[in-house]
Amino acid sequence: MSIPQHIAIIMDGNGRWAKNIGRERTHGHYHGALNIRRIAIKAHQLGVKVLTLFAFSTENWKRPESEVSFIMDLPRVFLNNYLQELLDNDICIQFIGDWKNLPASTVKICEELLEKTKDNQGMKLVLAINYGSKQEIVKSVNKFITQNPNTMIDETMLESYLDTSHLPAVDLCIRTSGEKRLSNFLLWQLAYSELVFCPLHWPEFTEQEFENTLIEYESRQRRYGGL
Ligand code: FPP
Repeated sequence: MSIPQHIAIIMDGNGRWAKNIGRERTHGHYHGALNIRRIAIKAHQLGVKVLTLFAFSTENWKRPESEVSFIMDLPRVFLNNYLQELLDNDICIQFIGDWKNLPASTVKICEELLEKTKDNQGMKLVLAINYGSKQEIVKSVNKFITQNPNTMIDETMLESYLDTSHLPAVDLCIRTSGEKRLSNFLLWQLAYSELVFCPLHWPEFTEQEFENTLIEYESRQRRYGGL
């Protein structure tokens, strides 16, 4: 099977999954965070180099405070439950987005995850937290202008200022829960990616479903605008 180097996932449907089984939305987010583990380990085993996950968008602040603070505590759940497994699997955690402006306790946990996994040479697990693609592009252009006054920006330069500048191009983007939109996720980076939409909600998206999306990916012909 041809394995994409870089896969991005919009982990959608946590709330609906929880409602469907008569539980609070936060129960869905908890199980969503747990599911990161099984999909990350599977991706790593299959040889994926980078897995980028949309964990919290700049628009998600509009949600009720109780839901937001629950999500802000999930990196701690992740650290406490999975640090050892991340180390055992040589997985390196990284972040994109404005994550340094999260609550101080969350930033501290994120820094701990970064520090403790930074020497791992296997798959990069990139969590997009407080991330919005339009904001990322505007921030990058402003930084470029400040550093290079009176210079026109080009595609290569802009790419080098994005949060993802150190990562390979995204080959495949998966969105769970049946919605078919990008929701301000990696708009520039997904220009030539294959898109796969899966009807299952994120907490019920299994390793087998993940492999199925890779089979679908393999069947696509990537032409990058050529013939
Ligand atoms: C989308 O489902 C999911 C989110 C907005 C949050 C996703 C967060 C996680 C899976 C955990 C993050 C983990 C870490 C380590 C930061 P939704 O709430 O929009 O679901 P709905 O569309 O059914 O309402």
